[in-house]
Amino acid sequence: MKQPGERTIPSDYFDPRYPNGEYLQSKAKSRMPMFAFDYLNGGCIDERGLTDNRANLKRVRLNSPLLKRRCQPDYSVNLFGKRYRYPFGVAPVGLQGLMWPDAPEILARAAADLEIPYVLSTVSSASLETIAEIAQGYAWFQFYNPTVEDVRADILRRAAQAGYDVLVVTVDVPTFGYRPKDIRNGLSMPPKMTWRNILQMLARPAWLLGMAKAGKPEMKTLLPYMPPNTPADELQSFMNKTVMGSVDADSLRKIRDVWQGKLVIKGISRMEDADAAVEIGADGIVVSNHGARQLDAGPNLIESLIGISEKHGGTIEVIYDSGLYSGTDLAKALACGAGFGLFGRLFVYGVGALGQRGGVHTINMLGSQFAQVSQQLGCANPSDFPGCLADSGVR
Ligand SMILES: Cc1cc2nc3c(=O)[nH]c(=O)nc-3n(C[C@H](O)[C@H](O)[C@H](O)COP(=O)(O)O)c2cc1C
Repeated sequence: MKQPGERTIPSDYFDPRYPNGEYLQSKAKSRMPMFAFDYLNGGCIDERGLTDNRANLKRVRLNSPLLKRRCQPDYSVNLFGKRYRYPFGVAPVGLQGLMWPDAPEILARAAADLEIPYVLSTVSSASLETIAEIAQGYAWFQFYNPTVEDVRADILRRAAQAGYDVLVVTVDVPTFGYRPKDIRNGLSMPPKMTWRNILQMLARPAWLLGMAKAGKPEMKTLLPYMPPNTPADELQSFMNKTVMGSVDADSLRKIRDVWQGKLVIKGISRMEDADAAVEIGADGIVVSNHGARQLDAGPNLIESLIGISEKHGGTIEVIYDSGLYSGTDLAKALACGAGFGLFGRLFVYGVGALGQRGGVHTINMLGSQFAQVSQQLGCANPSDFPGCLADSGVR
């Protein structure tokens, strides 16, 4: 019998009906229950951050001379001691298995197959051990710093033992985001089974069938720390008390002391936080506003990226996420100083639209888009993009 996420999809799979993020998003919307789609798609408070992220990227302009000699392109990058086929990976998205059954397994398998990193969330519906096995060295582990010392130590021990080389500590969630759509949908942890939500599930038979096979999504990495038979309505308070600890420089230093692998700090938008990450001895940072899910009034992230990469790009790996939806967006992030990009929602749209085939399709779609932009601009390597920045759009 096939295991969830087992390699069954040819690595060059591409469905021409979905050549960009918009087609994937609209198909995913028609296949996911509305509460799950809203959870994926939504932003915090007024949701202005979502449009800001897109608008900031939109203003970036690229150009390069056409009458120059073209070199053989190579889109691969060396990052944290490993070669990746493209300068992008899959961002950590919690509860992916709620949005589409077995989404973490599907995406981790596709990432391994096409040699890009898959970042597993602490609050994923798949355990860190399962994903390490599926991803064969291509998974990174995202860490929400637990408040309870023993839990923190044990998760770090398990991550090291499972073979993760890269730990991504997220620092931009000192509190849960206030997301109006989730509030209206009664989407808590776990989702409330209201009549409205039940009707939405019944209207999405492929999702429902997949869910019946995959089983109810649970935060598998965290299960060992939950008291046995924790009632559903106490899960949120367990999370608040045990897992969602806020992070400061001291707690990062403690993690740095025990974590032998590469350390990446995710959720940086301010120079002093980037300075602190360098001082602590991090190997990389992710300039990110969590896809506009936490603060609706943050700085222009492209401006942050340019400043931070100018100051620290020679010392530390600078990765970018938030608002990337295409190969062109990735090219823009690279032109503004990032060495690598992560895509969050786009990959879940891919799996929502195409199920098992969605991971490989989305990687190939992005790869083709990125190859076209690179060739158009005469960029043989991802590191050539800063030379193509015509206008950052930052005033
Ligand atoms: C539904 C959802 C859940 C997320 N869960 C996590 C998480 O568990 N850990 C984390 O570090 N970031 C999480 N993120 C943020 C992503 O890692 C990433 O920063 C963001 O999605 C990038 O923006 P994009 O979706 O526009 O690409 C989540 C994002 C979404 C959309």
